This record gives sequence, structure tokens and C-alpha cells, in this order.
Amino acid sequence: MELEHADPLGAGRRRRVLITGAGGQLGHALRQAFAADDVLALTRADWDVTQPASVDRVQGDVDLVLHTAAWTDVDGAEADPQGAAAVNVAGTAHAAALRAPLVTYSTDYVFDGRKGSPYVESDGPSPSSAYGRTKLHGEAAAGMRAWVIRTSWLFGSTGHNFLRTMLRLGAERDEVAVVDDQRGCPTFAGHLAEATRELVDADLPKGLWHIAADGECTWAEFAEAIFEEAGLHTRVRRISTAELERPAPRPAYSVLRSERADAPRLPHWREGLRACLAELRRDAL
Ligand SMILES: NC(=O)c1ccc[n+]([C@@H]2O[C@H](COP(=O)([O-])OP(=O)(O)OC[C@H]3O[C@@H](n4cnc5c(N)ncnc54)[C@H](OP(=O)(O)O)[C@@H]3O)[C@@H](O)[C@H]2O)c1
Repeated sequence: MELEHADPLGAGRRRRVLITGAGGQLGHALRQAFAADDVLALTRADWDVTQPASVDRVQGDVDLVLHTAAWTDVDGAEADPQGAAAVNVAGTAHAAALRAPLVTYSTDYVFDGRKGSPYVESDGPSPSSAYGRTKLHGEAAAGMRAWVIRTSWLFGSTGHNFLRTMLRLGAERDEVAVVDDQRGCPTFAGHLAEATRELVDADLPKGLWHIAADGECTWAEFAEAIFEEAGLHTRVRRISTAELERPAPRPAYSVLRSERADAPRLPHWREGLRACLAELRRDAL
């Protein structure tokens, strides 16, 4: 009996963790955070989640699914909401159909941003964009066996994100124009990946969890911090959301906080920024 306790999966078998969207920024961070497990990291080329998984893709039993595959083009979703739903809703249902414990990721964009104080799990969602609506329906599609983690303003050392865009623009220009009337929590993918492991390893209850960086700022304030920490002298010209004329509305205030006493707490976004820059420097060596 004692042996069964020490080794719940049996005979020295490591936990088998399937990651969808493994080519994305969070997928990349999760591969690192779960490196001690037996990880099956599937990119879009390995499994297009708009289609049900086939046995040859999954290759045997799975103990945990980390579902990061998503349509994340917020403006593109306005032009093709059905395409976005095929990934964010049907794709999540297909991940749930694997019938293993599931972690799926959702967004601060399920809120309209009018509350003016931090959003907690019991606040009613009211998405104002097609992307937000598909992510909200995706939460429902995840089912009862899922941890649904809402997070915000993700950045990491790989993929397309605001930090990497600012580093590129900062190296090319003396000044960049950045929106200063949206407030949120820029969250380092590496910190979120560690918190995901904490949530799963502690076997905290399934359901909705808000997990985002501590602190809050506007995109312009985040850009200024990026330039400062990276040693760039680029100026930030503060502009309004309206000036950008983007197709999708964004919430003006989408700070996420958890009202759950046992929720994993993330470091301040500035610490996330420093950790990400350190990772980028290491990768460049
Ligand atoms: N980025 C943010 O600011 C943010 C904020 C809040 C929540 N989230 C959520 O966090 C999760 C991870 O986001 P992320 O920032 O890591 O996104 P990401 O970097 O855009 O990665 C998403 C991955 O999903 C893949 N993908 C797209 N369509 C697919 C399909 N049909 N089948 C399989 N894979 C597909 C993409 O592949 P391709 O590269 O080939 O397109 C990409 O590798 C998502 O659920 C997202 O909605 C993100």
C-alpha cells in the first residue's frame, strides 16, 4: 500500500502531460515548467485542435492536458468570429474530450472593463469583443474536469508579444506611440507556467482561477519600464485607444485578482519583466 502512495501512477511511471499549442509563448514556458514530467508537446502541425484528437497523435494514456492552443489574434477574430470559435470553443471541447484532467487558459477580455476595480472570479463576464466571447464559450466547453485559468497581457521570451515588439521598435526608433488608457497586469509566461504546476501539484479544486501578475499599469507605463530595464533611450508618446482605430474593442480596466485564499500568487509584473529579459539574454548567448 505504501508503495502505491509513493508512486500513484505505478511502477516508476512519470506523469504524462500533453501540451497543445506547444509552439506558442505559454506552451514554450510550460514545457520548461513541466520538464520533470513525460511531456508530449504538440504544435499546431502535430494536432490542429479544430479537429478531434486521433489516437496516433496522443499515443496512449494522458494524465494531464495543458491546453494553450488558441486563436489569439484579437482583431482578426472580429473579421472571422467563426474561425476563432473553431479554435477557442471547439478546440477546447476536443481537448476536454481526451477525458484527462485539463488546464485551459482564458482571458481578462471576458470582461468589458467598466468595473473600475479588480475583477475577481465571482464577477459576471461581459465580453465586448469576438475574441472575448469565444474565450468565454471556451471556458464552458472545458467542462467539469478543468482548471480554467484566466490571465492577462501575457509576454514571454518567445513568440509574438508586446515586450518583444517594444524591444524591436526601441532598437529602431527614438519614439514609439503607446496606448495609455488601458490598465491591466502584464504577466510573464514563465511565472504563469510555474503557478500552473503549483495549482495542479497541490490538486486545488477544479473551476475558475484568476492568475495574473501582481501590480497594474497601462501599456505606455509597461513600454517605459521595458525600455528602462533594457537600457534603451526610446521615448514613449502616450496615445489613446481611439487613436489606434483597432477593429476590436479592449477593456479599459481589466486587472485580475483572485478571491480564492489558496490561489497561487504571482510576482509583480516588473519582476516578470526582469525575469523575461534575463531569459532573453541567456537565450542570446
Ligand atoms: N497572449 C495574451 O496576452 C493572453 C492573455 C490572456 C490569455 N491568453 C490565453 O493564454 C493562452 C496561451 O496564449 P499564448 O499567449 O501562448 O498564445 P500564442 O503565443 O498565440 O500561442 C497559441 C498557440 O496556439 C496555436 N494554435 C492556433 N490555432 C491552433 C489550432 N487550430 N490548433 C492547434 N494549435 C493552434 C498557435 O499556433 P500558430 O503559431 O501556428 O498560430 C500558437 O502556437 C491562450 O488560451 C490565450 O487565449 C493569452
